[in-house]
Amino acid sequence: MRYANVKHFKTTKEIKIPEDPLMQVIGQDKAVKIARIAAKQKRNLLLIGPPGVGKSLIAQAMAFHIEKPKEEVSVLHNPSNPERPFVEIRTREQIEKEKKIKEKLSGKIVEPSEVPAFVAEKLGFRCRFCGALSSSQEEFCPKCGREKFTTGPRTAGDLLLPYLEEHKRKDKVYTTKVGPDGKEEVIVYKRRGEKIVVMDQTLLEKIERAKNRAPRKIILPLNRNNFVIATGASETELLGDVRHDPYGGNAQIGVLPYKRVVPGAIHEAHEGILFIDELSSLEYIQRYLLTAMQEKKYPIIGRNPQSAGASVRVEGVPCDFTLVAAANVNDLKYILPPLRSRMVGNGYEIVLETYMPDTEENRMKIAQFAAQEVLKDGKIPHLNYEAVQALCDEAKRRAREIDGAPNALTLRLRDLSGIIRLAGDQATEKKVIEKEDIKKAVKDAKNAEEQLSNKYGSMWRAGMSDSGNAKRPEQRDIR
Ligand SMILES: Nc1ncnc2c1ncn2[C@@H]1O[C@H](COP(=O)(O)OP(=O)(O)O)[C@@H](O)[C@H]1O
Ligand SMILES: [Mg+2]
Repeated sequence: MRYANVKHFKTTKEIKIPEDPLMQVIGQDKAVKIARIAAKQKRNLLLIGPPGVGKSLIAQAMAFHIEKPKEEVSVLHNPSNPERPFVEIRTREQIEKEKKIKEKLSGKIVEPSEVPAFVAEKLGFRCRFCGALSSSQEEFCPKCGREKFTTGPRTAGDLLLPYLEEHKRKDKVYTTKVGPDGKEEVIVYKRRGEKIVVMDQTLLEKIERAKNRAPRKIILPLNRNNFVIATGASETELLGDVRHDPYGGNAQIGVLPYKRVVPGAIHEAHEGILFIDELSSLEYIQRYLLTAMQEKKYPIIGRNPQSAGASVRVEGVPCDFTLVAAANVNDLKYILPPLRSRMVGNGYEIVLETYMPDTEENRMKIAQFAAQEVLKDGKIPHLNYEAVQALCDEAKRRAREIDGAPNALTLRLRDLSGIIRLAGDQATEKKVIEKEDIKKAVKDAKNAEEQLSNKYGSMWRAGMSDSGNAKRPEQRDIR
């Protein structure tokens, strides 16, 4: 892609943002190239780097490049052992086919003039005196004015009761006919609006068979999201669960076990991407993740031993996902070695960049980044050319101070987006964000850093407590 010439933009509004979300990732060319391959080839990916350099962004963007799910997964009631529901996988084609069959099962729709006279009469269309056809909603014949059908007894103990019952309008009429093989066949006529549905014996049998098919719960619909984030890192969130039923799944008053099955993130990510931020924080759960990746299916069981769900087990629930995980360099040692080798064995490990050389081209990338942030925010104005340069100067200062890199621009862009927002909030009255707004925002942000650093002792500690990781400082180092 070609970037507009740096010297030739007045504000970031002019900068065209690529549609491909991977191309919106700034300064991580190697990672983006590999992410593209990983998405296409369904390879796992371990993204290593400090906070705010685009790990989540890359993972999410990969989902844009993978195919939509092709399989729908359901759990089915198992009549002979309800606590062992079955799994059923249906492809898009199968679902389409079954839908067509279902449509056919709804019977043939005909006009009142196409059915035998006595059927039209009973269904309320035909006048039993003059034979004229009219709307089934009209009680009196519009042609001869006489009562087409009765609406039932008018007073309690009406002497005409048998007569009134006989001439009541029916919703459904059963008849029989002799088929080609000499056997008697049932035909049902049903009123539907101002038309009639006809169902013959074979159709009725098919409907009966369809009714007897095991009831199902779709746990992974076809149109599910192909990007799943596992955040809480709890066993149930990752591996699924069977909900509790106060009636213990009692057949009469309880909720049947198959209805209480809940898929985990590993299942929801079937045919898609499972993104795990801070892989090491999964701790012992990594072991289950490894098994799931090896087997590509994983049972769903009730995980609370006190719950009525504990006795329920669904075998073979598919979980063929692509794992994209993020980790801090210092946390690598907390990743289960076989899991890491599994990821690398069938995928890639990439260390993200934390800065890029300060060149005109890269300054233009910062401009693109600024344009993206303005759009993402939706409430702040664009930056003019000078404001972008001021932002780049701050990016340069940060690369030097945080990464000790001279003549570079930082890629810790989450922090930089904070500056843009701060500047934007002060500039909302104006049409654009100007140099002064950026400078002021930088100063304010610095003041905030100083305040935090006074409070917590050092800047990185402040960062720790902010991300909720204060408990294990020895594992982290954001520098
Ligand atoms: N390389 C990048 N290119 C463009 N924007 C970025 C980049 N890195 C971070 N950002 C901005 O910062 C935000 C946070 O980045 P994120 O991907 O969550 O970082 P990480 O997952 O590495 O902590 C993103 O939503 C985006 O606005
Ligand atoms: Mg992240």
